[in-house]
Amino acid sequence: MAQKIIVANWKMNGAFEEADQWLAKFIDLYSANQEALQKVEMVVCPPSFLVDYFDSQLLDNAFDNIEKIAQDRGKNIEDFEEEELAEIVIKQRPFWLGAQDCHFENSGSFTGDLSAEMIKKIGADYVILGHSERRENHFETDEIVAKKVAAAVAQDILPIICVGESKEVRDQKKHLEFVYKQLLFSIPRGVKFMRLVIAYEPIWSIGTGIVPNSEQIAEMMKMIHKILAEKGQDLVEEFVILYGGSVTAENAKEILAIENVGGLLVGKASLDSNDFVKICLS
Ligand code: PGA
Repeated sequence: MAQKIIVANWKMNGAFEEADQWLAKFIDLYSANQEALQKVEMVVCPPSFLVDYFDSQLLDNAFDNIEKIAQDRGKNIEDFEEEELAEIVIKQRPFWLGAQDCHFENSGSFTGDLSAEMIKKIGADYVILGHSERRENHFETDEIVAKKVAAAVAQDILPIICVGESKEVRDQKKHLEFVYKQLLFSIPRGVKFMRLVIAYEPIWSIGTGIVPNSEQIAEMMKMIHKILAEKGQDLVEEFVILYGGSVTAENAKEILAIENVGGLLVGKASLDSNDFVKICLS
């Protein structure tokens, strides 16, 4: 089975103090559960300025461990080749970092925005794009999302494209049609993806504590899976579909067991490293 991906979406929460506390607790839990957690692709998407901060904290942490690794291997740090050292440092990173958005242009007069090139430079290897909160509050259309996705791919950043219907759309039983169109138009044409991550997040479930039942999730997963599989190798070599919306340490296991669910996008529960780790261990 492919590695599951668990993404923490901190949204507009936390600063340095919270990041320090989160990381200290996470590192403790990680050491205690290393073997199981190394099987999970964990991605943390804090506010952008914390991507940079986490990146340097993780690097410091990795260097602290190198001495111990060298000892275990009966070597001195100086004995390692540069490449070997770089590999160890990368392996020491418990999770990947991601941003919550990026602009589609590389630079220019876009006050308040960060480009894909910029988020790559501060340490992001993933980016959440087209989250419903951005679509709603920043009027992002599928067309804009598609342009952002293309910009991210050009910087070698893995986009996590969010789709999902509102309560009204679901009540009208138009959810499949709605998500189908959203997906089709949010994926840029002519871009070849090595990997693609889609997050299905019903808007009525985000932050509400309401989780769709297993059949509802399975129905949507099946459709998304079918679209991506039909697109075939010309578009994407590998794809993963996440579920997002009121995921907790209590319901994660059940959701992950649903067919075609390849991981989770976690909002509120990811702000507590204890809950996040529990979800990753589900
Ligand atoms: P939630 O948010 O887990 O707090 O519902 C999920 C999301 O919006 O990504």
